[in-house]
Amino acid sequence: MSSLTRESVLAALAHVEDPDLKKDLVTLGMIEKLEISENEVAFDLVLTTPACPMKDMLVQACKNAIRVMVDPNIPVRIHATSRVQQQKGNDGILKGVKHVVAVGSGKGGVGKSTVSASLALSLAQMGAKVGLLDADIYGPSIPTLFGVHEAPEMREVNGKNLMVPIQRQGISLLSIGFMTAPGQAVVWRGPMVASALKQFIQDVDWGELDYLIVDLPPGTGDVQLSLAQTAPLSGVVIVTTPQEMALADARRAIDMFRLPALEKPILGVIENMSYFTPDDAPDKRYCIFGQGGGQKLAQEYGLPLLSEIPMDPMVMQQADEGALLLNSATSEAYQKAAQELARQLSIRQFAAQGN
Ligand SMILES: Nc1ncnc2c1ncn2[C@@H]1O[C@H](COP(=O)(O)OP(=O)(O)O)[C@@H](O)[C@H]1O
Ligand SMILES: [Mg+2]
Repeated sequence: MSSLTRESVLAALAHVEDPDLKKDLVTLGMIEKLEISENEVAFDLVLTTPACPMKDMLVQACKNAIRVMVDPNIPVRIHATSRVQQQKGNDGILKGVKHVVAVGSGKGGVGKSTVSASLALSLAQMGAKVGLLDADIYGPSIPTLFGVHEAPEMREVNGKNLMVPIQRQGISLLSIGFMTAPGQAVVWRGPMVASALKQFIQDVDWGELDYLIVDLPPGTGDVQLSLAQTAPLSGVVIVTTPQEMALADARRAIDMFRLPALEKPILGVIENMSYFTPDDAPDKRYCIFGQGGGQKLAQEYGLPLLSEIPMDPMVMQQADEGALLLNSATSEAYQKAAQELARQLSIRQFAAQGN
């Protein structure tokens, strides 16, 4: 036990390691505003994401270290906060956005839009600044999910006329569907798709965001290619349902992003519609579409399975009413998805910085 000084407190905290980044909190620069008085130690613990799955564990570990190595009785006040770091190379296009994450799938109807939107909601609820871009030019879902059917306003920024995303539930939203009548089919050719997507990335006042989630159309077509070439993607999340049919398509999507010409990191797999738990049998899990497909896919490619999202009968009703919410049935699974995604981004970023 040493006396209570700045040095002794920092020495104690240097014994607390971030299990993901495999370095101690002092070396990682996560301790800020350290103040020591006779009757209190106080500091900020600056995490790499507001969705840090290890927040409580790290706070407790800091308290224990000070208790064991410095003073068993001194009250320790820790303010856990976060600063998401900018993805390397994000300094031109979308320069206020720390991470651009695309959500893709091979097959349509696996719940990609629902998952993208719910993931965005979950990240926002944890305190992150979040945007959601609907890149499904042919079949936009975001207008329906959030009940938005109004054209975005324009704003002049540095002499450029930019679209202003629409705010709903704490998220900045943008979709081609905001500009077309509901149900109106968009018939576009490849080059037009590329230029529309480019506009959504370059001619929008996205402002400062921690995470911009991009809801891709199904498959491996123009939009995926244009996005991968235009936007500084931190990575891609693959959504699948458990059955073999969906897996085959998901494999194609993964293979495309892994092509040498694109080389976008796959951050992990989310399995949607994994099981159904009836209200009157909360201990039961019925695997309606089979079992273990997401896990199998993740293992095949050496990827993390970020989360398994249960079926939620409320989701369709909410989508029809234009008010997607996180329900008791799914919120925990989405929280896990958000935390695991944020964790993968932090780990990759840290590794890319040569640590
Ligand atoms: N976990 C879920 N539980 C119940 N219904 C879901 C779930 N995820 C998606 N759905 C429903 O499945 C349909 C397809 O979802 P959507 O997100 O539009 O898929 P995609 O974008 O992959 O085409 C929608 O009607 C949606 O409400
Ligand atoms: Mg969709």
